[in-house]
Amino acid sequence: MPKIVFIEPNGVQHVVDAAEGRSLMEVAVDNLMPGVGGDCGGCCSCATCHAYVAPEWVDKLPPRQEDEEMMLEGVIDPRPNSRLTCQVQLTAEHDGLVVELPAPWN
Ligand code: FES
Repeated sequence: MPKIVFIEPNGVQHVVDAAEGRSLMEVAVDNLMPGVGGDCGGCCSCATCHAYVAPEWVDKLPPRQEDEEMMLEGVIDPRPNSRLTCQVQLTAEHDGLVVELPAPWN
């Protein structure tokens, strides 16, 4: 069972267990990670699940597809390591994945 490390903008870290086959968004929402939502249920149409993958993990994940790229154009503070976490399906290879959470919405 991979462990995922979520880091809040203030530096607080949360290490959570993730079942293989779940999406990164589902794991974040299940564990009440601040700043990550899943309003569309994971069908890549809301971008509330936006977060930042640690730079060393960017190339270890499947690349962003066209629909994810389009949705990321509308997020607040997009970065090269931005991902829609609903588009990342977790496997055992993701053990230790580090994800920086975005600033919470108001
Ligand atoms: Fe809506 Fe990811 S949950 S785009």
